[in-house]
Amino acid sequence: MVGAVQDAGVVVTGAGGGIGAALARRFGAEGARVVVNDLDAGRAKAVAEEIGGIAVPGDASAIVAEAREALGGTVDVYCANAGIAFEAGEPGTPLDEQPWALSWEVNVMAHVRAAHELLPEWLERGTGRFVSTVSAAGLLTMIGAAPYAVTKHGAYAFAEWLSLTYRHRGLKVHAICPQGVRTDMLAATGSAGDLVLQPTAIEPDEVADALFKGIEEDRFLILPHPEVAGYCQARAADPDRWLTNMNHLQQKWETTR
Ligand SMILES: NC(=O)c1ccc[n+]([C@@H]2O[C@H](COP(=O)([O-])OP(=O)(O)OC[C@H]3O[C@@H](n4cnc5c(N)ncnc54)[C@H](O)[C@@H]3O)[C@@H](O)[C@H]2O)c1
Repeated sequence: MVGAVQDAGVVVTGAGGGIGAALARRFGAEGARVVVNDLDAGRAKAVAEEIGGIAVPGDASAIVAEAREALGGTVDVYCANAGIAFEAGEPGTPLDEQPWALSWEVNVMAHVRAAHELLPEWLERGTGRFVSTVSAAGLLTMIGAAPYAVTKHGAYAFAEWLSLTYRHRGLKVHAICPQGVRTDMLAATGSAGDLVLQPTAIEPDEVADALFKGIEEDRFLILPHPEVAGYCQARAADPDRWLTNMNHLQQKWETTR
């Protein structure tokens, strides 16, 4: 395993805290040269200093060129990890376009833009690794958070598309799909997160462990909560039954919030 990452040039977006910081620390510990990106320059710098990495602050949508230069010309691994979550405005209330637009930009288009910039060099070299921090919400859904659930489905679909299109040309793609992870984002999910995510929440380091196991086993789908596989099977086998069960959860949430 160490061989796959030792000395590799790795970029992790949204790595000033939470899952991204855990991924950056783990890649650093495995001997990679790590670019730590975050919108928050202070947090990016702090994590970079801690792991001997290089801080490249800014919007994850537009950092590939600077990250490539910081790594001496080559990006071997790109972790599209930065993400944002919003609660949904409910039908019947005025539609707020902003959460939808921002979620689309950060949760999907940042991945698309990075891949667009990285693919020419990866295809030419016949090697490259794209890691997408999606969410179990990208395979299933998340109550109360339509922009998040919808754009995470988009992120998953894009990772899947990258993998099927370029796997014979040396590209490795991993889609990490956890449920709750104890980070600032989880803390901000409010009563829906308390109900659905907190009871089985794991630590960011466990997500990094799952990714590294997945890299070792050469697997696309990384499930830090293994039970998510069963939920996906239930959803595919009987969509109406699954939706009825999810609606029970929705009703339970409505009585507690
Ligand atoms: N925490 C969870 O329960 C959970 C579960 C499943 C998936 N995820 C996903 O994991 C990823 C990381 O989430 P987290 O829980 O560590 O969140 P977090 O909020 O703790 O950390 C996210 C970091 O990304 C940064 N960021 C936000 N927008 C950015 C942008 N446009 N460019 C650069 N940096 C940006 C933030 O400043 C922050 O430091 C996200 O994609 C999230 O959707 C989180």
